[in-house]
Amino acid sequence: MARTDRVARCPLARSPRRGGPACRAHEDWLSQRRAEVVGPVRGRVVELGDGTGANLPHYRGPRWLLVAEPDAGARTVIDRQAADLGFPATVVAADPERLPLPDGGVDVVVSVLALCAVADLDATLAEIGRVLAPWGRLVFLEHVRSAGFPGRCQDLVAPLWSRLARGCRPDRRTVAAMSAAGFRITEAEFRAPPGRLPLAGPVVRGVAARPERGAWWRETRWLRGERT
Ligand SMILES: C[S@@+](CC[C@H](N)C(=O)[O-])C[C@H]1O[C@@H](n2cnc3c(N)ncnc32)[C@H](O)[C@@H]1O
Repeated sequence: MARTDRVARCPLARSPRRGGPACRAHEDWLSQRRAEVVGPVRGRVVELGDGTGANLPHYRGPRWLLVAEPDAGARTVIDRQAADLGFPATVVAADPERLPLPDGGVDVVVSVLALCAVADLDATLAEIGRVLAPWGRLVFLEHVRSAGFPGRCQDLVAPLWSRLARGCRPDRRTVAAMSAAGFRITEAEFRAPPGRLPLAGPVVRGVAARPERGAWWRETRWLRGERT
């Protein structure tokens, strides 16, 4: 197995079947959520940090898929997973804050349990907005901070949690950060995964429309006559 240095040990992304029934229930639940998120995506798709390639089996119809994965060991694992599945994914070394793509060329950005781990959430959201086409969507499955007292407990444990889980944060208000970045949340479904850790918050599956900039026909290079 390739060595991974930067992949967050997000407690919600893990749970291989070596555990007991609670672990298997979590894994089955997560697998269904992954299928709901990535199964319907079409067109030109970018996934942020696929870790172990766990989402690849669930894709059905992207025109192309680029996986931006900062961790070298994880890239090897995802490449192998893609080859085993015969899936035409391109895996590139890239931080989510700096995607090697031009403005507005992507139809869908996928983030599954990745925004909990990125070093700079606001910079990552700005970068997602930059690469998305005017009609583009961010589709996501993320664990987020709880409301009320559990949320305050998450704030307290966040520094230790983040150390142990290699950068994964339990206290991120990810959906609020998307709204603040100008995304329009068109779907957001909060659920409690089975057998979750007491201090892990709810998991939200959702869709967000790209922040408004100018009128899309003014931004479209093709309509401006730039047929590059
Ligand atoms: C918990 S893993 C999630 C893996 C996968 N998306 C899944 O559904 O299981 C987090 C992903 O974010 C990536 N990542 C990006 N920036 C990171 C950072 N600063 N620290 C840790 N992980 C980071 C990791 O390489 C990894 O692929």
